[in-house]
Amino acid sequence: TKKLLVDVDCGVDDAQAIMLALAAPNVELLGITCVHGNTTVENVCKNTLRVLQACNKLEIPVFKGAAKPILGNTIDSGHFHGQDGLGDAPDPNAPGLDLIQKESAVSAIIRIVNENPGEVSLVATAPLTNLALAVRMDPSLPSKLGRLFIMGGNTESRGNTTVCGEFNFTADPEAAYIVLNEYQCPMYLSCWEFTCKSKLPWEFCDAWLAQDTDKASFMARIFRHSIEVSQSERFQKELVAGTGFVSCDSYAMAAAIDDTFITESDHCPVSVELTGMHTRGMMIVDTVGFLNKSNKAFIITKVDLEKFKQMMMAALR
Ligand code: BDR
Ligand code: CA
Repeated sequence: TKKLLVDVDCGVDDAQAIMLALAAPNVELLGITCVHGNTTVENVCKNTLRVLQACNKLEIPVFKGAAKPILGNTIDSGHFHGQDGLGDAPDPNAPGLDLIQKESAVSAIIRIVNENPGEVSLVATAPLTNLALAVRMDPSLPSKLGRLFIMGGNTESRGNTTVCGEFNFTADPEAAYIVLNEYQCPMYLSCWEFTCKSKLPWEFCDAWLAQDTDKASFMARIFRHSIEVSQSERFQKELVAGTGFVSCDSYAMAAAIDDTFITESDHCPVSVELTGMHTRGMMIVDTVGFLNKSNKAFIITKVDLEKFKQMMMAALR
């Protein structure tokens, strides 16, 4: 089995990624850490508990992390994920925040990785604030981490939040910089343009949500708002090509679950732009070697989409 820790800003695609992990027979989910991003960290905690409740997995510990980026103010994705992060489809029976662990997300990451040296993979589908703080608290953390999977950044300077900025990196560029430069463990990046090119066709989404299960009806409820936004003309322009839904966070999770999921990747040093009128938060890919960096990241360029569809189907079964 694979031991996973997941760091989320539980919006709709984070929920989909969590459900992938919960459905994977080979995964032991050691905990979910929450951070600001798509919505406030309090909403992220609530949303994560709702996802666990929908899957009957409330025994998995959930930890609250950073409420703000290292510098500056929070940004959110309310326009896409709904103001509450899960499509503004509230659930009167949602679990209360008293179920959140007393230990902070940052110390939980450090503790869990140190208890299982070399064995834990971390999947980060959110701004990287918790991970940046964790390496500041424990500089040896990356050397004890198995692998790190990140949804974030971009490879062709296309943004979804600013002209050149992908949301997770733009929401905390300093944290992204620290993580890309200091996590010297095998690192896999699922970047914005790649996820756009790997869309799920709408017909697939219809069949996915039409499954006759409680999980599918939960997903249909929280997903409705982002389906509407995704199908708008303005939004389809942001996407690289073609129509369909981009479950951004699910690709990083699928890669962590199944070693054969990634079929092609580039291996390059990467960093993040911290200044620049239009480019703050943009990922830098150093194909030539200008940065003089020893650690490289695997930038995912191709995955097994059939396998992805099967895993997604199973997640709502
Ligand atoms: C990322 O931004 C968030 O809105 C999504 O949950 C995903 O993690 C995509 O850029
Ligand atoms: Ca996310």
